[in-house]
This record gives sequence, structure tokens and C-alpha cells, in this order.
Amino acid sequence: MSFPPEIGLTAEALNRFLVTSVLGRPALEFHETIDSTNLRARELALAGGQEGTLVAAERQTQGRGRLGRAWHSPPGLNLYFSLILRPPLSPEHTTCLTLAAGLGAAEAIERITKRRPDIKWPNDLLISGRKICGILSEMEVRAGRADFVILGLGLNVNLGPEHLPPEIASLAGSLLIATGRPWDRAQLLAALLNGIEGAYFDLVRGRRAAILSRYREHCVTLGSMVEVAQGTTRRRGRAVDIDESGGLIVESLDDGRRITVDAGEVTLIKPTPLENP
Ligand code: BTN
Repeated sequence: MSFPPEIGLTAEALNRFLVTSVLGRPALEFHETIDSTNLRARELALAGGQEGTLVAAERQTQGRGRLGRAWHSPPGLNLYFSLILRPPLSPEHTTCLTLAAGLGAAEAIERITKRRPDIKWPNDLLISGRKICGILSEMEVRAGRADFVILGLGLNVNLGPEHLPPEIASLAGSLLIATGRPWDRAQLLAALLNGIEGAYFDLVRGRRAAILSRYREHCVTLGSMVEVAQGTTRRRGRAVDIDESGGLIVESLDDGRRITVDAGEVTLIKPTPLENP
């Protein structure tokens, strides 16, 4: 298949492949340039934007990553988008929501490219050890309930090695780098929305155990040595499982005790290309 890699992202192109019932349905915004699709989606959600509203951009000037990092967002090559979700879940179950989105995205990428991404807990997707996709989910809580969640996803699609800034050149990858060919971004965006919706519906309809079991099959963190920083204490251990809320269970090297940790507390001990760029 051959097509210009800079093929425009339009609602028409997206709709050729989209089979969702909610995601991308109530409202769609495509921006040439935006600060961050997460910020825009949050603005829309605060103004009452419906579940499934999609904000996508060709380029972000302040693309945001997890843990306060920036997300490299050059124009015309990749996918940057955010969704408004209004999950009927208590805030403690929203980690599972992020895991489900990562799983849905990984399965969608495999369906299209026939390459199976690994998931680094909680939701970095990697191919051949290089990060190709990241998810930033931001929750707004009201009266003890998740009022809405903004689920933002960046996927490096047709980014070549020449587009990577030196600080992430050895860590980041793209579908082009992994497969040696360009990919149709509209088709991928639709596949991601289709896949994420499937996993999201499974989760909210009570099939969390099935989601977690598929997630574990992709998760390369399980079995790895990690360092856990809690307050001023640092402990080393082996990541042994994911609990039913999506937390990582780590077995301490010192005394074999098991603790469940949050994403911000964990680093893989041998920083490999798996580390978050
Ligand atoms: C990570 O650090 O791994 C998460 C990266 C998330 C990036 C996406 S790009 C679209 C959306 N808008 C943002 O500003 N961030 C997310």
C-alpha cells in the first residue's frame, strides 16, 4: 500500500474506518495546531462536553506527558488526541481504565500492523524496546465520583529517526521505525478508537478480570526488578502481578513482603530503552 504519509486527518477519512458507538461520535475537533489536546478536551468537559467527544491535532505546542514531562509533537507525522470519558466508576477504579485503554490501543496496533506492542506498566507501549505510544489520563473528581476523565494518547506513526530530538533518540520509536513503512493515520486513529471503546465497555460492564488477564499477557514489567520510592524510603523488588484495581504488586528483595504501588513510585532498575522518554 502506498499513500502520502502526511495524509490529512479528516472526519471523512476517520469515518471510513470507525465502528464505535460512543468514542468519536458526539463531537469531533481537528486542530492544525493546539497547545495540548488534553487541555482542550478538559475545557470542553467542564463546559458539559459529552462522553466520547474527540479532540485531535496535527501538532501540539505544549504536548504533555506523564510525570510532568513534555510530549514531542511535531506536525503531520503522528497521532495526538484526547477523549472525554464519563465512566460510571469510583475514582479508585480509574487506574484500570487507563490500563484498559493501553490494552485496547496495543491490540488495535497489532490488528493493523501485525506487530504486537509490549506494555510497560501502567501504559507505555513499546515495540523492540522503543516507546511508540503514551497515554495521559487526567481525572476530575466531584463529590467522590469521577466526574470525567480525559484520556489523551500520543502514537508515533510516521516519525523517522531524523525527527527524534537527541534526548529521546535512543528511547523512542514509531511504527515507521518498527516496520519500515508508513501507515495511514486515519485508519490507525479509527482502529485505536474501536479498540479502546471495546476495552472500555468491557471494563464498565464488569469484565475487569478479563481485561486484566489480557493486560498481563502484554505487560513486560511483570518479572522485572523495580525500585519503589515511597516518601524518603527506597526499596527494591520484583514486579510480580497486577492487582484487581490495576496497581502493580512488588515483592520486596529484603523480606519478600508484597506491596502495591502507584505509577509515580516505580522505576525499572536497569534503565533500558523501556524507560519513559
Ligand atoms: C506519556 O508520558 O507517556 C503520556 C503521553 C501522552 C501524550 C498525549 S498526546 C495527546 C494528549 N495531549 C497531551 O498533551 N498529551 C496527550
